[in-house]
This record gives sequence, structure tokens and C-alpha cells, in this order.
Amino acid sequence: MIQRLAGIAVLAMLSGMALVANAESGDPQQGKVKFQGCIGCHAQPLATNAYPTFKFPKLAGQHPEYIVAALKAYKSGERSHKTMTFQAGSLSEQDMLDIAAYLATLDGQ
Ligand code: HEC
Repeated sequence: MIQRLAGIAVLAMLSGMALVANAESGDPQQGKVKFQGCIGCHAQPLATNAYPTFKFPKLAGQHPEYIVAALKAYKSGERSHKTMTFQAGSLSEQDMLDIAAYLATLDGQ
């Protein structure tokens, strides 16, 4: 009986760990969907912007850690920009990870 309980406890711990591990890595497929609302400004990932100069930061191929850090900074107000604070404010941490994972799969040419 005790052994059985211990087994259950170990299982519970393992599944808890799996959840944490999951939260730390983004899903590029999800990210692609979530990035649709960002394309208007950040352009089609690989197409050049319609503006004469490239006004919006290029995100394709950017390091995931950088994307997540930038979005968190906007959300927290540490980095302030009206538009992006608004954009990032509606993203959960998982959204940020997913989007970052998606962007990292793109070739930043
Ligand atoms: C209305 C236009 C607009 C939309 C929509 C938009 N962005 Fe931005 N984004 C900008 C501008 C402008 C900047 C540069 C802001 C600054 O100077 O800090 C920026 C900056 C960023 C940066 C920082 C880039 C860097 O090099 O530091 C990230 C990351 C980013 N956006 C991600 C997103 C994501 C993800 C979405 C969708 C959820 C999104 N943006 C939607 C206009 C937009």
C-alpha cells in the first residue's frame, strides 16, 4: 500500500515536471497561428515591407529568448511603446513562447 502511494506520488511529480517543461518551450505550430495578428505590422516574415524604409523590427530568425524578453518588457512596461505594449498585453507567457518558437524557425533573410 505504501509502495503504491509512493508510486502515485512519483507519477504526480513527473507529470508536474512535464507540465513545467512544456511551459518553457514554445510550439511553432501554435505560434504561427498566433502570429497572424502581428503580420500587418511586422510584415510577411520574409517579404519586404511596403514602406519605403523598413520601419518595423524584423522578427524572423530572431532568437526566441530575445523575442520573449522583448514581449515581456513591453507587457510589464519596462519597455514602453504604445502599440507594442498593447499587443504584448494580450499575450500569455505561453503565447510569447509559441510565437518566439515560430519566429525562430523562419530564415531571417
Ligand atoms: C500596429 C503595428 C504592430 C503590431 C500589430 C505588432 N507590432 Fe510588434 N512592433 C511594432 C513597432 C512599431 C515596434 C518597435 C517598437 C519600439 O521601438 O520599441 C515593434 C516591436 C516589436 C518587438 C521588438 C523587436 C526588437 O527588435 O526589439 C517584438 C518582439 C514584437 N514587436 C513582436 C510583436 C508580436 C508578437 C506581435 C503580435 C502579437 C506584434 N509585434 C504586433 C509594431 C507592431
